[in-house]
Amino acid sequence: MTRALLHPRIASDAVSAEAEARREFAADVARDLSLRPKRLQPKYLYDALGSQLFEAICELPWYRITRAERRLLTRYAAAMTEPLADLTTMIELGCGSGEKLALLAGGMRRRGRPLRVHLVDISPTALDLSARTLATLPQVSVVTHGASYDVGLRQAAASPLRHGATLALFLGSNIGNFHPTEADAFFRSVRRALRPGDGFLVGADLVKPEPVLLRAYDDPLGVTAAFDKNLLVRINRELGGTFDLADFTHEARWNATELRVEMHLVCRRAQQVAIPVAGLSVAFEAGETIWTESSYKYVPAGIGACGEAAGFDCHEQWIDRDAGFAVTLFRVR
Ligand SMILES: C[S@@+](CC[C@H](N)C(=O)[O-])C[C@H]1O[C@@H](n2cnc3c(N)ncnc32)[C@H](O)[C@@H]1O
Repeated sequence: MTRALLHPRIASDAVSAEAEARREFAADVARDLSLRPKRLQPKYLYDALGSQLFEAICELPWYRITRAERRLLTRYAAAMTEPLADLTTMIELGCGSGEKLALLAGGMRRRGRPLRVHLVDISPTALDLSARTLATLPQVSVVTHGASYDVGLRQAAASPLRHGATLALFLGSNIGNFHPTEADAFFRSVRRALRPGDGFLVGADLVKPEPVLLRAYDDPLGVTAAFDKNLLVRINRELGGTFDLADFTHEARWNATELRVEMHLVCRRAQQVAIPVAGLSVAFEAGETIWTESSYKYVPAGIGACGEAAGFDCHEQWIDRDAGFAVTLFRVR
């Protein structure tokens, strides 16, 4: 076996970043499992296995978001990028595999200048995958930010090499994970990071019939259930948790008042679960749930209104009527 030799300083920085991330995970788990209803934050779904399971979900016939957005980006790449004169930088927040950014960059006509791409993702697995995907494109240089959306956005926006126009991307209906007040704050923070002439491209899943939505988040192959339950596997591995996976069932619920699909892990029997690294022993009643993710669904005008409330101009919207998915280009005046 060969081993890469790291400079001791780099190795110790990596160890302390990992220890800090573990401390933050433990603190969030301790706080969120003490709430009623119990919760866990969706960003923790994406460890190495979680990121791979998400890629598998994208291939499922019942999860149509990825294919719909791919179709729109393939067909309208030029129309989505040409309104930004002298586009030289793209920043993708929560890039996942990076495949959609590659479609957009590859589909730009008349790209005479090099393109600098900033990939922001909390998952090291997603960053590795997307950096490799983007590295195959000519005249594209890649900067990775292993960070949360806000930190990564700040780092990318502060890049001294940011000339010309910037296009920020928030695809895959990542916006749906935010409560409307968080979505509003998020739009405003992106608006603050951008400059006149820049753009913001947002992909959002649209409201559709309940059975279609529930199949997308509780598929017959059980891949989404594995993605959800992997959060308990992660707590067991990283925080010494004692969750017995056989006692928890994945459930998707449509909340018609809030227009969101909720993912829950339902505890089948009353029990106590220890999570020593988070300093916690959690009591569960039979039937009690842990709410792990929300996916808010939009109407096309609603997503435009969110951007406009934050100070963007809504430039154009492309809709895949078949799957019910919208990509909207916002511009900074
Ligand atoms: C639903 S996936 C979508 C991936 C990609 N945008 C697509 O369209 O396929 C969400 C991605 O965002 C990342 N992510 C989730 N929450 C995050 C956060 N708070 N900060 C940074 N990245 C996050 C996940 O690791 C994952 O790669």
